[in-house]
Amino acid sequence: MNQKIIIAIDGYSSSGKSTLAKAISKKLKYKYIDSGAMYRSVALFAIRKNIFDSDFWNIRNFIPLLKEINLKFKWNQKYNRTDIFLNEENIQSKIRSEQVESKVSFISQFPEIREKLTLIQRHLGEEKGIVVDGRDVGNYVFPKSELKIFMKGSIEIRSYRRYQDLKNRGKEVSYEEVKKNIIHRDIMDTSRNISPLKKSIDSIEIDNTFLSIEKQLNIIFQLIKKNNRLY
Ligand code: DC
Repeated sequence: MNQKIIIAIDGYSSSGKSTLAKAISKKLKYKYIDSGAMYRSVALFAIRKNIFDSDFWNIRNFIPLLKEINLKFKWNQKYNRTDIFLNEENIQSKIRSEQVESKVSFISQFPEIREKLTLIQRHLGEEKGIVVDGRDVGNYVFPKSELKIFMKGSIEIRSYRRYQDLKNRGKEVSYEEVKKNIIHRDIMDTSRNISPLKKSIDSIEIDNTFLSIEKQLNIIFQLIKKNNRLY
């Protein structure tokens, strides 16, 4: 590929977006931007500020605090991955907690929060050569991205993958709890007013219920090859 492109991968929770995005970024030597990690970081920040302890959530109290949030992605040599930093603190493992997971879709509805994170994402994409995964990347953040993928999978397979992932990290959760949380996030992410998760007309859908990562990568590289003359 001669010219660098932007690859946008949107899709449902636990549909394997990040696994695919990381594998593509490794092959192409592109930067990987996990936009969900940014929303999770804001949720963690809000939890730490005890925002959710008040009688009712008042976004107006939280918005002024947004300027205290400084997010960066840095390469972690030890684990061979990109970690997210909140005000210079590595929070990569902290944003995967159930507490963060239960608040993040709620946080993601607010335009002020979306605006701030969209600006950072667009800045990171200025020189192209990135793979970004999330919910509104192809539709809103990078509407002109050269390759747009929309990922889906059955609720059972997505819940099972997430459950296994949490168990491998030593978390005590039941499959039913995980499934409930994913259904809840699907509803929140697809029904919010601003930038809801929605397949764009120019994206390629991949249902990976029965597809290995190798098969998914094959599809992607066929697409890139086919469209190579465009890039
Ligand atoms: O991809 P993820 O599961 O880490 O994302 C966590 C949440 O962040 C997801 O439920 C909705 C929100 N999100 C979003 O609103 N827009 C994005 N581009 C990425 C994530």
